[in-house]
Amino acid sequence: MTLQRTFIMVKPDGVKRGLIGEIVKRFEQKGFQLLKAELMVIEKEKAELHYMEHKEKPFFGELVDFITSGPVFAMVWEGENIIQVSRLMIGSTSPESAAPGTIRGDFANSKQENIVHGSDSIVSAEREIANLFEPLLTRFSNQNLPY
Ligand code: TYD
Ligand code: MG
Repeated sequence: MTLQRTFIMVKPDGVKRGLIGEIVKRFEQKGFQLLKAELMVIEKEKAELHYMEHKEKPFFGELVDFITSGPVFAMVWEGENIIQVSRLMIGSTSPESAAPGTIRGDFANSKQENIVHGSDSIVSAEREIANLFEPLLTRFSNQNLPY
């Protein structure tokens, strides 16, 4: 048993194209559990933190501009080995290598605007969730929710 949580986000292009339902459906069909979801516009400082491992890359500025350009649908999902499995479901970053059947393989034709984000490790998942969501216990302290 390796129950994990991960951060999955429908990016502004996916929201504009009406793909929130399609993406949620795929993770539900896989048997994963949605713990939290919010439509939000990410502040520039938080976007820079989210993508901090790419700070020195030439595409960093455009990436931050893109991810803050409109609402994203941010989610926390839980499941067995979900970090590795969700990355497989999302598919490769580039359209020429994203396999058909994956989310990017089926819906994305751009390396920059590729519909969806998924954390790549347990450490990244924890950092990304903490960066974009308020602490769960603070917000839901009076409710008997499963997290
Ligand atoms: P990366 O973490 O390499 O990809 P992934 O989203 O698959 O984990 O890069 C983060 C995002 O940065 C990626 O989804 C799209 C953007 N990006 C570019 O715009 N150009 C590039 O050359 C790369 C590698 C990524
Ligand atoms: Mg990445």
